[in-house]
Amino acid sequence: MTDAKRDAAEKAIDYVEDGMVVGVGTGSTVAYFIDALARIKHRIAGAVSSSEQSSARLRGHGIEVIELNHAGQLPLYVDGADECDPRKCLIKGGGAALTREKIIAEASSKFVCIIDPGKRVDVLGKFPLPIEVIPMARSLVAREIVAATGAQPVWREGVVTDNGNWILDVHGLAISEPLVLERELNQIPGVVSVGLFARRPADIVIVGGDTPLLL
Ligand code: A5P
Repeated sequence: MTDAKRDAAEKAIDYVEDGMVVGVGTGSTVAYFIDALARIKHRIAGAVSSSEQSSARLRGHGIEVIELNHAGQLPLYVDGADECDPRKCLIKGGGAALTREKIIAEASSKFVCIIDPGKRVDVLGKFPLPIEVIPMARSLVAREIVAATGAQPVWREGVVTDNGNWILDVHGLAISEPLVLERELNQIPGVVSVGLFARRPADIVIVGGDTPLLL
């Protein structure tokens, strides 16, 4: 799998143009992208980062990390995913960075998603859906999710997001209508964000590996 991730990440460099501020996601696939970006760092204006983890890696390579509030609309966002369906809707948040990832995806004109073949699914939901919650609302949100979906939320105990919040992983979903579920879960008080990227799916998906694909 590691080679497929690296392969997808390397191909995403083709979308980076001179002078760009590049939106950068989080995770092991993105780590390869950051390393590849370092080779052309003199050509870009900097990066907007979705996590402390990615910021540290970017800075380690001497790439300037720019605040999203100072960058305006971004031309390009590159990030991985935990699952990707045929409509390019995604589950993200396995690395607990979903909220900042979602903000940067929304602020970007083009979202290039880089995955290995194992992330492709017909129906989202085998990977437990991460939801970032305000800590005091953890139990309330879990109860409301059970009532609304019948699925099983599990607290990712010990994990605190970069925003100081907690994560619930929702097991047992088969998400045939990602946009509808994203909207519904977003209504629950205490939900910060839902790791479903349906309202803002990927624009381009690069699947790395022996038989690389562009979706
Ligand atoms: C981080 O919160 C996630 O959204 C990642 O994008 C996702 O988990 C993919 O991670 P890997 O590239 O490590 O598989």
